Amino acid sequence: MRIGDAIRRIERDRRLDRVVDFYRSVLDRMPSGPVKDTLHGVQLGHPLHPLLVQIPIGAWTSATVLDLFPGTERAARRLVDLGLVSALPAMVAGAADWSDQHERHQRVGVVHAAANNTGWALFAASALARHRGRHGWGRALGLAGMGMVGIGGMLGAHIAYNLAGGPSHADQDRDLLPEGWQDIGPVADFPEGEPVRAMLGTVPVVVVRTGGDTVRVLTDTCAHLGGPLSEGETDGECITCPWHGSTFRLDDGTVVRGPATAQQPALQVRVSNGTVRVRRPDEDADVPRPRGEHSDAGAAAATRG
Ligand code: FES
Repeated sequence: MRIGDAIRRIERDRRLDRVVDFYRSVLDRMPSGPVKDTLHGVQLGHPLHPLLVQIPIGAWTSATVLDLFPGTERAARRLVDLGLVSALPAMVAGAADWSDQHERHQRVGVVHAAANNTGWALFAASALARHRGRHGWGRALGLAGMGMVGIGGMLGAHIAYNLAGGPSHADQDRDLLPEGWQDIGPVADFPEGEPVRAMLGTVPVVVVRTGGDTVRVLTDTCAHLGGPLSEGETDGECITCPWHGSTFRLDDGTVVRGPATAQQPALQVRVSNGTVRVRRPDEDADVPRPRGEHSDAGAAAATRG
C-alpha cells in the first residue's frame, strides 16, 4: 500500500472522532480575535505554523547529525534544548489552525500532533540524559525522537498538500477569470448591502452593492478552505465567510480576521450606463492589446449564479 493511501485511511477513521471532539471542545474556548489571528499568521499575510516549525526541526536535525561525530556533545545538547523550547509556539500555532479545519483534516491532525508530541517527549528525555552526561542514551533517544518528528512532518505535509489545508483556495480563480471587462448585470439587480453570487465564466464571484452605484466584487471561493462568501454576512465594508468566520475587506480583499491569511482577489469594478462591469484584479487598462483582440471577449460568459 502506498503511504498516501495509508494516510487517507486516517482521514476516514471515525475511531479518532472522540479525540477530535475532545480537543475541539478545548480549542473552541480560544476566542477569535488578535491573539488567534497572530497564531494563524494574519498580520504576516502568511501562515505562521509552517514558519515556526522550521526552528525545532532544523535544530533537532542538526543535533542528530552532530551526534555522528565525536566531540560535539555540547553543541548537540544546546540544539536539542533549542528545539524543545522553539517547538512550543509552533504547537500552539498548529492547534489554532487545526481548530478551524474540516473533520478529515482534524483526524489526520490529531495523529500528526500525537507523533510530534511523542517526538518532543523523546527529545526531552534525550536532553535530560545529555545534561546528566549519558550521551549514548541522549543520542539514542534523540534518534527515536527524530523518527517520530519525521512521521509527524509527513502527516503535516499531507494536511497541507493533499488536503490543501494551508494554501489559498482563492488564488487559482485569478487564472480562470476571463480577460477584459465583463458585464455582470444591471446595477439595479443587486440589492444594497446583500451579497449576491454571480458567475464570471466558470468562476463564482460575490457582488456587494454598498450604496448607489458603488459596487464591490470579490471572488466567491474563500481563500481559507473554499467556503462560499456569498452566503456570508456583510456590513458594507467587509464580508465574513459563513464557514469559519474569515473576514475580508470588500475594497481590496485584505484579511481583517482569520483564519484566512491570504488576500481574497478583489476585481476592478466600473458601473457604466447602469451596468456593472468587472475585470481581473491584476489587469492593466493601459496595456495596449494586440490588434484584433477584443477586450470583452468573455462577456457573454458572465451570468448570475
Ligand atoms: S472557508 Fe474557512 S473561513 Fe472561509
